[in-house]
Amino acid sequence: MRFLWGAATASYQIEGAWNEDGKGESIWDRFSHTPGRVHNGDTGDVACDHYHRWREDIALMKELGLGAYRFSLSWPRILPQGTGAVNQRGLDFYSRLVDGLLEAGIKPFVTLYHWDLPQALEEEGGWQNPSMADWLTEYALVVAERLGDRVGHFMVLNEPWVFTFLGYHEGIHAPGKQGLFVPVSHQVNVAHARALNALKGQHPNLEVGSAFSFAPSYPLSPQDEEAAARQHAFNNDWFLRPLLRGSYPEGLWEMPEPVAAPLDFIGVNLYFRQIVQDDPSDEFLGVKLVEGPGWKTDIGWEVWPEALSRMLTWLSEEYRLPLYVTENGCALDEPTADQRRIEYLDSHIREALKARDAGADLRGYFCWSLLDNFEWAWGYRQRFGLVHVDYASQKRTVKASGRWYHDSFGRAIMPV
Ligand code: FCB
Repeated sequence: MRFLWGAATASYQIEGAWNEDGKGESIWDRFSHTPGRVHNGDTGDVACDHYHRWREDIALMKELGLGAYRFSLSWPRILPQGTGAVNQRGLDFYSRLVDGLLEAGIKPFVTLYHWDLPQALEEEGGWQNPSMADWLTEYALVVAERLGDRVGHFMVLNEPWVFTFLGYHEGIHAPGKQGLFVPVSHQVNVAHARALNALKGQHPNLEVGSAFSFAPSYPLSPQDEEAAARQHAFNNDWFLRPLLRGSYPEGLWEMPEPVAAPLDFIGVNLYFRQIVQDDPSDEFLGVKLVEGPGWKTDIGWEVWPEALSRMLTWLSEEYRLPLYVTENGCALDEPTADQRRIEYLDSHIREALKARDAGADLRGYFCWSLLDNFEWAWGYRQRFGLVHVDYASQKRTVKASGRWYHDSFGRAIMPV
């Protein structure tokens, strides 16, 4: 099997067409339309207009020599009310996109939930409602029924930790609720497991995984080792161990019994590491995150490439499953001569391949992101793309990093 080199995006961040062709409202539509929630009042109403420009975007992927493309589906484009009536025009859009990718020789990797929950379900409590297990399952089966004949790889959730912590605890992502991490995380875990089990039960031939946000914990000093272990359990294992071992990591909170489910692969999203100090004054976890010495990208994240090999090695030893790096990249506002992005990607890819050489079953690498796009609460201020987007004209320009990615790993090259 060939190692896959790809790039990733997500529906709300690139599609636009927020209320076209029967699409329902999502929590990110509602959130970004609420004054004060997103930097500069930016919204995903138009974003990269990918809904209309997808053919041009597939041509760009070809130009970059991508072997695979990871993208997500907008749940309310397919089920405007979240459950019940299916919007065929929404499904048709994704079906055409998949056909276009296959024609171009690009393998589709589909994420079902990359945070744009139907607002209608949020009105019912969203991830706080135990019925999410049924709703997510229904949606997953509708999609697999239509696309499962051509898409071989699905990810059910993108970064459950991030949407639970930022959306339901810190309130800086949609739906903007606070203080609910522990109970919501359990509903997410149960819904996740039930949807995974149903999907595999009905479509055993599909490869089904999820993408998780990972950041290895480095103790600031030997006295901080326990704090670093807590942070690791909370940040890296809280949504994984319940599925794969049927139990929560020990020592954090009293939790109900979770539901186990198999994963065919683990998607690894990694951008940075965390340096952890013990902090008894922090009532939530007793930890404090400390700034490191590495250089910072525009979004303020420290660059520490070794974090990637460390994480892949831990996952490989702990869970022994196939791995894909499903997101890795950096925010830099260097329109086309983005030398520092090349440095970032090159150093991280080397670390990923190092872990692979040492035995991790790593099968592919997806750069975040194909295009500059809507970076959630940061709006359009952070640019992660291999391709620059001028939002006023929607003109796409391949950056130096995009040319470098092509010349190093493009389909004509494929070094591993
Ligand atoms: C991840 C998200 C992705 C993107 C990158 C920068 O947490 O999955 O959508 O915003 O960060």
